[in-house]
Amino acid sequence: MTTVNSEKLSSARFAQATDAFVEVFTASVDFDKRMADQDIQGSIAHATMLAKCDILTDAERDDIIKGLSQIKAEIAKGEFNWSIKQEDVHMNIEARLTDLIGIAGKKLHTGRSRNDQVATDIRLYLRNEIELITAQLHRLQVAILDLADLHFDTIMPGFTHLQVAQPITFGHHLMAWFEMLVRDHERLQDCKKRLNVMPLGAAALAGTSYPIDRYLTAELLGFSRPSANSLDSVSDRDFAIEFTAAASLIMMHLSRFSEELILWSSAQFDFIELPDAFCTGSSIMPQKKNPDVPELVRGKSGRVTGHLVSLLMLMKSQPLAYNKDNQEDKEPLFDTADTLINCLRAYADMVPHINPKKENMYNSAKRGFATATDLADYLVRKGLAFRDAHEIVGLAVRLGVETQRDLSEIPLTELQKFSALISEDVFSYLSLEGSVAARNHVGGTAPETVQLAIKTARFKLNL
Ligand code: ARG
Repeated sequence: MTTVNSEKLSSARFAQATDAFVEVFTASVDFDKRMADQDIQGSIAHATMLAKCDILTDAERDDIIKGLSQIKAEIAKGEFNWSIKQEDVHMNIEARLTDLIGIAGKKLHTGRSRNDQVATDIRLYLRNEIELITAQLHRLQVAILDLADLHFDTIMPGFTHLQVAQPITFGHHLMAWFEMLVRDHERLQDCKKRLNVMPLGAAALAGTSYPIDRYLTAELLGFSRPSANSLDSVSDRDFAIEFTAAASLIMMHLSRFSEELILWSSAQFDFIELPDAFCTGSSIMPQKKNPDVPELVRGKSGRVTGHLVSLLMLMKSQPLAYNKDNQEDKEPLFDTADTLINCLRAYADMVPHINPKKENMYNSAKRGFATATDLADYLVRKGLAFRDAHEIVGLAVRLGVETQRDLSEIPLTELQKFSALISEDVFSYLSLEGSVAARNHVGGTAPETVQLAIKTARFKLNL
């Protein structure tokens, strides 16, 4: 039988050419060509294993490796002719290989399917992306530590409900960001461990009848082991979902940092100056300096969470084993990795140039009755029950509000009207410095504790 659709590698079964629109509709090469390097890397390992197992000759293997290396160079130089007629990255490369080396090129696909091939490529791609992301995350962690070091004793208000709550140190606040990133880092490493398992050999779904050595291919590609079930290996994309979940959490953290930077740089807070290089002006209002980078990062967090939901919905209800649905995993995944790397990079570049306005931070803590809890604790130490102390301090704060004075500015005689237990020593507790210094337990905001936390963090990061 003559085949109408003869340019296609998998066409012999078809009597009719693919509908022109369907060809475009089903092709993925426009986006999956970005896994070309991983595809070639996987193919070289596969061919090496096939030769070792006497399924290919050494000469065939050498031709394949030479041809693939040439293709890699062509792609790098932008000289490779990608064609949607060959549907995806895998078939484009295989077709070109056959053009270049003839019959040996046609043997590369022995004992393999695009199903285990694509599952391998994505894992190799993600493994590499996680490394790039980890490097940017590390840069950001170092930037935060350096800034915290400069401000271990800079006093600012700490907030609950976005209302001034208690005084804290700016270094302590920054170290809270740092801790979030520590967990983010752990999640990425954990995800990498689970995805670093090799699908090749699963073939289309059931494995292959050739005497292959999956341990060898796994070793050649740096995977920790071959996957344990062929059906599972070609179908599940849970590793991509897990990565996107880890990425969404990082983006969620960055969006929280962003929200704070945006608030703090507003005229109303005026706690920090963001570097000019990370802000833009307004086309109409000459006075404006907009915090574009934090705002964009905050916005992009929504996009990454959207990708997480896309991937979850993509996988949900798919029967075993491979389904074409899975081709839809790539765009959200690639965009997740790109977005995350860019946001982390922008943050790592920006954080060292954040300039805190210490005086404004200090005055804001002072205006907000941030040491009210300290006064209550003082009364408890003098023998009052905490609830009674809470009540008394509430009255003192009310007086402060009415007369526009901080607790530390109310004279002793007036304070003593609220409780006879109050004496001269109260003022050391009512100062912002006294309040933060008292919280010197592990995890507390005292300057000395923050310094210790920074030191421990540097040690853990091997800095
Ligand atoms: N482009 C496909 C994907 O991304 C490759 C696997 C195709 N396999 C198949 N049986 N059609 O999933």
